[in-house]
Amino acid sequence: MYKKKKLLVFLIASLMAILLLAGCNSNSSSTGDKDSGKAGGSKDEKIVVGFSQIGAESGWRTAETESIKETLGNDPQIELKFSDAQQKQENQIKALRSFIAQKVDIIALAPVVESGWETVLKEAKDAKIPVILLDRGIDVKDESLYTSFIGSDFILEGENAAKELINLMGKDSEVNIVELQGTVGASAANDRMEGFANIIKENPKYKIIKSQTGDFTRAKGKEVMEAFLKSDGNKINAVYAHNDDMALGAIQAIEEYGLKPGEDIKIVSVDGIKDIFEAVKAGKANIIVECNPLLGPQLAQAAKDLKAGKDIERWIKTDEDVFVGKEEAEAALPSRKY
Ligand code: AHR
Repeated sequence: MYKKKKLLVFLIASLMAILLLAGCNSNSSSTGDKDSGKAGGSKDEKIVVGFSQIGAESGWRTAETESIKETLGNDPQIELKFSDAQQKQENQIKALRSFIAQKVDIIALAPVVESGWETVLKEAKDAKIPVILLDRGIDVKDESLYTSFIGSDFILEGENAAKELINLMGKDSEVNIVELQGTVGASAANDRMEGFANIIKENPKYKIIKSQTGDFTRAKGKEVMEAFLKSDGNKINAVYAHNDDMALGAIQAIEEYGLKPGEDIKIVSVDGIKDIFEAVKAGKANIIVECNPLLGPQLAQAAKDLKAGKDIERWIKTDEDVFVGKEEAEAALPSRKY
């Protein structure tokens, strides 16, 4: 009798262990339809998204991180794994490899630079994990290494910056421009430079007399502007900054040099963070070409669509605007979220 009871307990325990194991296995392979390269899985499983962020170099970047953490982090259908690369591509590659090892459903990558991604993205492709690029593009021969790109048209931003500057200063004025570039090798820097040059080269009265990287940071923007002022202070009519943080650093440098930013030297920059709107309102900067960092909702939607087996657009674009002068900045300020 005692033996029979023992056997029954053993059988029940074994059955429970088998059921438990089956449950664990189905959780860890939540990509489901892996062979199609689309994230799949059953309805109740969370979509695990691994996001490799560049760092926290600018106000724009902070707003992007917050948008993603807030949207994906609070979505009951999504589990977000976040990794900050501190501006280093090698850290991003490590993060991607760790996401692959953890068998996440989707990888989201904001790539610090354009080149050098082939090997790791091939590893993600072999593991059948779709990759969504966020905000910056990459340069790869095999375009199937990523599924989609969510972000802005940086060439258009550069073109708009140049057009608005010419509108502001007049096409017949002689204008010497200094350019503060973003991070060397970043698509945001390469494309904004290209777009701006496309328009400027059509107007021989406008010249880019200096162009150097300020790495998208306020401190570096200030430092580079100080050097520009030291060598060409009396010649500079305008600053084109690839982002607001560098423009804000340049404004400080111009004031310390004894000139009036926004008047003696016009300022055009890209992004649209609150601080630059305040600067334009105060007359210290002139033109803002908006680049939208609030990409969380689009990423969440793309992840859900992939999980549902739907095709998603190759390029999911963001809505953006241009703001010129005090009045437009003042009117927009109350509704700025970042
Ligand atoms: O990739 C987008 C750019 O990166 C933003 O314009 C800049 O502020 C950020 O650092």
